[in-house]
Amino acid sequence: SSDLSTSELARKYFYDYYPDEKMPIFTNPCHDEMLMNLWNGNRSMCRIFPQFLIVGPQKTGTTALYSMLSQHPDLHPSKKNFITYEELQFFSNDTIYLNGINWYLDQFDSDNIVSEWSMNFEKSATYFDSILAMKRIKALLPNIRLIMILTEPGARAYSRYQHEIARTNQTINFDDLLQLNHNHSSNQFHLKERCLQPGHYAEYLRQWLNYFPSKQIYIIDGDAFRYDPRTILNDIQIRFLQLKNPINSSKLVKFNRKKGFFCPISNKNHFQCLGNSKGRRYEKMSSYSREYLNNYYLLHNQKLIQFLRNNNYSLPLWLTFFNRTQL
Ligand code: A3P
Repeated sequence: SSDLSTSELARKYFYDYYPDEKMPIFTNPCHDEMLMNLWNGNRSMCRIFPQFLIVGPQKTGTTALYSMLSQHPDLHPSKKNFITYEELQFFSNDTIYLNGINWYLDQFDSDNIVSEWSMNFEKSATYFDSILAMKRIKALLPNIRLIMILTEPGARAYSRYQHEIARTNQTINFDDLLQLNHNHSSNQFHLKERCLQPGHYAEYLRQWLNYFPSKQIYIIDGDAFRYDPRTILNDIQIRFLQLKNPINSSKLVKFNRKKGFFCPISNKNHFQCLGNSKGRRYEKMSSYSREYLNNYYLLHNQKLIQFLRNNNYSLPLWLTFFNRTQL
């Protein structure tokens, strides 16, 4: 009503009626003439937007995939970012998102786009389990191609735990962590959640499909990828990204005995294995943890099998095995 001042009105609007609108959502000026006129950018910048994203989840081999694809001369990853290490996390982190579209475009090297078949891309493993990220990606990049990697979720949870233990001075062992419930120190319980939650693959995939058609989503069997990424790298280049100049993946990666993994190969034919924090060596999880995780993920994995079948995706090997032994 006219009795309210502008700021009171704004308060009422954003706090009482439409709290979801407190955060802006950026749509793409390249798809909208009116926005294009308002934007402090220009049409030539439209080519800088990434053509595909590696969205995660964390600890499934996303860094390996990112650096292997980066060896292809037509594929250009986002520039190194010193705030969030190698990941932009633009769509999943509110503060970073508020930097806006021009900031996002600045994270890619515009000189890279030399030919019409060059593609920019980025990987942020935090996108996979973020509904907000799905919404924001859809608004800005509706035609984007998305790559996700699924590893056996129990092993993924354990890898996440190892990552946290190595990075911080937490000392809790994995068996104890899994036994925590809401009543325990919220920090430790939060860690348990971070280990387990992203492995609810079917729930998140269903959400992704609410925003994107399955032909825009490529799902990798993470265990197969870790064992030998070559077939997968060829398939991504040819079938999914339809690159003009696919490169035989034996030229992009080679097995490195010392590392115990396939490593990217530079154009001077040198190994560029990932750092020590990727492909860590740690002891096997206890049979208690293994059993806990098998039970914990039983329903999730059943739902995942259904989901993949319904959407014409092939089952990852670890799920076929699970299928035979546990259903
Ligand atoms: P671990 O260190 O627990 O073994 P992300 O990059 O998504 O965080 O994933 C890290 C995981 O990638 C590692 O977890 C490792 O198992 C896996 N991985 C798969 N292929 C790899 C490769 N070629 N080099 C190193 N790590 C690889």
